[in-house]
Amino acid sequence: MKRTHNCNELKGSDISKRVTLCGWVQTRRDHGGVIFIDIRDRYGITQVVFDSEGIIEKAKVLKPEYVILIEGNVRKRPDGTVNTNLPTGEVEVVVEKFDVLNTSKTPPFEVVSENLPSEEIRLKYRYIDLRRKKMQKNLLSRHSIVLTIRNFLDKNGFVEIETPQLTKSTPEGARDFLVPSRFEPGKFFALPQSPQLFKQLLMVSGFDKYFQIAKCFRDEDLRADRQPEFTQVDMEMSFVDETDVMDITEKVLAETFKTAGIEVSIPFPRISYDTAMLKYGSDRPDLRFGLEIFDLTEKLRNTGFKVFSETIKNKGIIRGICVPAGSGKAGGSWSRQQIDNLIEFAKKFGAKGLAWMRMTENGFESNIVKFFSKDELEDIKNISGAGKDDIVFFAADKEDVVCDILGNIRIHLAKTLNLINSNSYKFLWVIDFPLFEYSVEEKKWNAIHHPFTSPMETSELNPPAGGESSELGNLKARAYDVVLNGVELGGGSIRIHKQDVQEKVFEILKITREDARKKFGFLLDALEYGAPPHGGIALGLDRIIAIISDSESIRDVIAFPKTQSGSCLLSGAPAEVSERQLKELKIRQDKIKK
Ligand code: AMO
Ligand code: AMP
Repeated sequence: MKRTHNCNELKGSDISKRVTLCGWVQTRRDHGGVIFIDIRDRYGITQVVFDSEGIIEKAKVLKPEYVILIEGNVRKRPDGTVNTNLPTGEVEVVVEKFDVLNTSKTPPFEVVSENLPSEEIRLKYRYIDLRRKKMQKNLLSRHSIVLTIRNFLDKNGFVEIETPQLTKSTPEGARDFLVPSRFEPGKFFALPQSPQLFKQLLMVSGFDKYFQIAKCFRDEDLRADRQPEFTQVDMEMSFVDETDVMDITEKVLAETFKTAGIEVSIPFPRISYDTAMLKYGSDRPDLRFGLEIFDLTEKLRNTGFKVFSETIKNKGIIRGICVPAGSGKAGGSWSRQQIDNLIEFAKKFGAKGLAWMRMTENGFESNIVKFFSKDELEDIKNISGAGKDDIVFFAADKEDVVCDILGNIRIHLAKTLNLINSNSYKFLWVIDFPLFEYSVEEKKWNAIHHPFTSPMETSELNPPAGGESSELGNLKARAYDVVLNGVELGGGSIRIHKQDVQEKVFEILKITREDARKKFGFLLDALEYGAPPHGGIALGLDRIIAIISDSESIRDVIAFPKTQSGSCLLSGAPAEVSERQLKELKIRQDKIKK
């Protein structure tokens, strides 16, 4: 029952050979005395012909997705029927014998059809969805990318080391998935949110260049670019600073994108977190288009337009974005309807309003222009660079709200005005992140990256921390994120390698000494046994592959992903477990209301 060739192999040079092929029936075409079947495997398709008496009748049972073996002779296709789009398009196999290795029910959707069913159906019948060319291409590309990364890092002296999946909580900002222990009832393992703590321990052990293609688990709200179970290219290095980590990361990414024929030029531009938030309203800016945001707070501090001056008095800011002329429906300036639509869009992000002015031959026009002085209008014109028919939109609010509104407007405009070149790959580093952010809800400071990230200046760490207005908000972290086309591909930092500094950070984060010992005692201990200076990064492998394969969601580059609500429609996980299992684990369940 052995195949002599796969379904993408036969060429003109194979004519007259006797061959055996195995695969799935893709299509069957009956032409009176002849039946043509395209037989498919993961390599491609080959046309096979049933034209001798007896065999034609038997071939009539064959239906799409039946698994068959055929034996026959390769012949040249008749003139006019050669398919130059197909690697096997020059030939066909005349079947002498065939076997139905297995039948198939009518599949819930056609493997070759352009009309995809809903994603639920695709996920439920994932094994059929994975027969589709696009999905096969994605998984094959995933395979070559992982190989490329492994080989590249190996060549550069990195060692791949596996770290535990049954472990303790790693603080990466999400909820943990927990696994109950049978030996110690009432105790739980946590699945790792990342290998963060273990990779730091490996540095203490002297494995100065570590990497791992690591599975990570985070119980968080899911989106197109987030899965509860995902893969990181995780790296850590000793005796390095930020530039070393960024340098090797750029090389890994350039090498990876090269496998897909995408040339990436390195080094990537670096912009500070503050600049990213100012110009793009986001810490993962998409640089494939302009539409930069500008600040007008200083120029409008005393403006007669009360909405603005009052906002500034209340510690808010004013920023604007300029919509280019010629982007109106009819190619001119925007209609009132378009303006109103944008205002509605802004409200989704908490905008209380969205003031605007249109530039005309006579200067700015709109019903608020009268509140501004001549100088103020001149400043707005110069700073926005508004030309004739351009419209400047303004957001006035607290800084984070303004960034969110204008950052989202910027992306929305780029999409609706078709400003994005989908063949362009704009990498950048965002650096100089703040170390801490204040949570008004929790009334405490939190680490922006994670609590093991080194501050720029350790001498400025002075717990106990004050409230929101304390100086802590100005401290910068030795952290960096790599961003591509508006997607955060990865993030990392130089770590704290001294125990006293780590303890100060825990104190600021209101992690008590006991709590820190309980949660990360093993790391704190290790820092006391000769921990070298170290740092690293983790890249989101699924996101990288999704971009390279031009997939809308990372679900399309994961063989068996979960839905938006975190379940697996194929296997039915998560599922109930038996009473006996629960008893063994000494877990009693309350009745759960559905
Ligand atoms: P971070 O939490 O930034 O850093 O994660 C690194 C990268 O992993 C990817 N990622 C995800 N991909 C898919 N689904 C998710 N739910 C998901 N969450 C994160 C992103 C992200 O940039 N230990 C640190 C790294 C370090 O400091 O070295 C960490 O995990 O692309
Ligand atoms: P109002 O005084 O509420 O009628 O608003 C006057 C103009 O200012 C309208 O065009 C509103 O859309 C706009 N506006 C109101 N609040 C804000 C704000 N926070 N930011 C930007 N524009 C605003």
